[in-house]
Amino acid sequence: MIQLVKKLDIKSFDGVIRCVSEDMSHEKIGNLTLSTLKEKGVFEGKVGETYAMTTSEHGNFQEIILVGIGNEATFSTSKLRKGLGEAYKQLKSKKVKAIGVYTEAILSVCSMDKKIARVLGEVFIMSAYAFDDYKTDKKPSTIERIEIEGSEMDQVAFDEGKILGEANVFSRHLTNMPANVMTPEKLSLLAKEHLDQTDIEVEIKGLNEIEALGMHAFLAVAKASTNTPKLIVMRYMGNPSSDQRIAYVGKGLTYDSGGLSVKPTASMLNMKDDMGGASAVIAAMGAIGKLKPKVNIIAIVAACENMISGNSYKPGDIIQSMGGKSIFIGNTDAEGRLTLIDAVTYAIEKENATFVLDIATLTGAAIHCLGSEAAPVVSNNDDFYAHVEKAFEKADERIWRMPIFDEYKALVKHEQADLTNSAGSPGTITAGIFIGEFVKDVPWVHIDIAGTAFIEKAVGAFSKGGTGSGARALVYLAKKMSK
Ligand code: BES
Ligand code: ZN
Ligand code: ZN
Repeated sequence: MIQLVKKLDIKSFDGVIRCVSEDMSHEKIGNLTLSTLKEKGVFEGKVGETYAMTTSEHGNFQEIILVGIGNEATFSTSKLRKGLGEAYKQLKSKKVKAIGVYTEAILSVCSMDKKIARVLGEVFIMSAYAFDDYKTDKKPSTIERIEIEGSEMDQVAFDEGKILGEANVFSRHLTNMPANVMTPEKLSLLAKEHLDQTDIEVEIKGLNEIEALGMHAFLAVAKASTNTPKLIVMRYMGNPSSDQRIAYVGKGLTYDSGGLSVKPTASMLNMKDDMGGASAVIAAMGAIGKLKPKVNIIAIVAACENMISGNSYKPGDIIQSMGGKSIFIGNTDAEGRLTLIDAVTYAIEKENATFVLDIATLTGAAIHCLGSEAAPVVSNNDDFYAHVEKAFEKADERIWRMPIFDEYKALVKHEQADLTNSAGSPGTITAGIFIGEFVKDVPWVHIDIAGTAFIEKAVGAFSKGGTGSGARALVYLAKKMSK
């Protein structure tokens, strides 16, 4: 249970998180003052810094974690998240039952009161998530109650933050589930179940319907697997009188072995995560269904596995696509773009999308570009990009727009077919341009989350594995685009 309260009953907690600014000094903490800690050089209140101590000042044994928030010049909500996330994890490892959080210092260094309330709603839910479904000997958290003192905090924004935190966790959970369990069918069923309590219509199309739609590129990728593909369509019509329809298209490779252009084992290990785009859009739809913005969002996932069999598509093949362009297969590991182009064509032709956003763990090159700190973006529209950028900013996630030079556009062409699926370097941009060949003149943003969708080491509110990259931002975008 996480809630905002007017005043903390300090005696009722065995864990305390206290936000401390660099400017505070004479405040008492336990039986010390902050200036003592500063003089000793163990804690200065710098943003993101934490310091653990124990007191029995209130008659009971209390674990206290100080979280630095810096000053007006250095404060950032993303570093605050990191500090609070670390503090939560420290208290979890100390097995506390109830946490009281003092936040009054935050509003002394920043005026983003709504944003802070949202961050506080999100961050403890995000920090509490652990992927332990398959552990026989689970170590459940002892934390039962978190109370945050914040009489000036915006309750609506805080509650919204909790919904967004849950969306982040759900997205991470979908990403983390192993591919032997998370098949295309399982993903479709979980999407349906997740959206069951909302007004969102979920339609799951199987092999026959996908064939009837002429989704040849999607089918080429899917055909080697005995787990058949599913086209998952989720329709949220929050503004039925408007013609505006925003399509969220998420890459849904529940496993990517590389196909005949097989990946080495080390590169395959994380390829259950190749549906991070799908998990972001499905989780975002869950939150959109709860928050009900006045906007129409159609989310689409072309879910399949990229496997190896006698029926695999092959390097050197020339295949067709729903959009009518032929494609030379230079590499069967460049499969995501093939599933995405048919999903994008479906969104525009069959669902009348007037905006398209696709989000995908698309290229290893994205990791070379920006590492795990930001997701590269390719877009054909400045205004739509500006909205997307703001939405990601609100979620404290970074995106970075890449250029589309004419010379890059030429690289996706092929002498024997209309296009090639492996145009080469710069790999992230040419992959984006390839998808752009199918969006016609619809405003479009493509986000490559290969570097941000999962992490190898826990940090802040995140554990190792899926990060839920994009899930919260897509909810913010839906709100921004609402009328
Ligand atoms: N799913 C991978 C991209 C990826 C790599 C995601 C690492 C997350 C971490 C994608 O399908 C892929 O294999 N792309 C190839 C494309 C190339 C063959 C043109 C790549 O990036 O190497
Ligand atoms: Zn691949
Ligand atoms: Zn892939």
